[in-house]
Amino acid sequence: MSRAASARRQQRDDIPVARRSRPAPRRSRGRGLGLLLACLVVCGVSGAVVLMGPQLMARLNRTPPAPVVPGIPEPPAADGRLLGHFPYEQVRPDELIVVEPGIQLHVDAAEALDGMLRAAAAEGIDLRLLSGYRSHDLQESIFFDVASERNQTAEERAQVSAPPGYSEHSTGFAVDLGDGQAPETHLSTDFEQTRTFRWLQDNAARYHFVMSFPDGNSQGVSYEPWHWRFEGTADALRRFEAARRLARRPF
Ligand code: DAL
Ligand code: ZN
Repeated sequence: MSRAASARRQQRDDIPVARRSRPAPRRSRGRGLGLLLACLVVCGVSGAVVLMGPQLMARLNRTPPAPVVPGIPEPPAADGRLLGHFPYEQVRPDELIVVEPGIQLHVDAAEALDGMLRAAAAEGIDLRLLSGYRSHDLQESIFFDVASERNQTAEERAQVSAPPGYSEHSTGFAVDLGDGQAPETHLSTDFEQTRTFRWLQDNAARYHFVMSFPDGNSQGVSYEPWHWRFEGTADALRRFEAARRLARRPF
């Protein structure tokens, strides 16, 4: 740089920014640094998307992370499902209450169920609660031990039972219901022949219970007329949103 140019530059740098008629020239070192930073950000984000694809998708869809279940070689799908079932975190222990000996439910589901049991009884319907909350550990035993007893593959077992970490029962919002006058229909599709089932079809929505696995459901789970889930709070709705969205999709 010539001496005159150097003096001009020195003079201009001495003028406060607000008084300059033209912006000060940018320094090229700053531009290089910016480009480097942008590259690092783009590479970092791309790497995270590749490495955490399914988990990231599930998070964006507000479903909990899909656990990999030892013993099931198939990884969870992009929507978090494993063998057709959505992932569900366990209900917090302080949200559980005992509703019958050996049966616990989320306090909100328990309250709604109590109202439904009373209404059914008032109409001469012998509605019975057969099962409620199940921990992931209990679900693990129900899935794998029973599969072994019945000589079922994971795929066959998943048609009637959810893998551990994937059962609606873990939320404390799901119930298995029966007819006290027809115990032979408990946990059987014959339950649909009972007065209690017909009463549930006509009245369960008043108490915010919906059948989770109707005949021909999109999750590919066997028809379970006895299994109902509570959707009467924002928390419950959010938990089942992915399942609801899939059920709404046209076949
Ligand atoms: N029987 C239902 C699918 C469950 O195991 O959660
Ligand atoms: Zn059930």
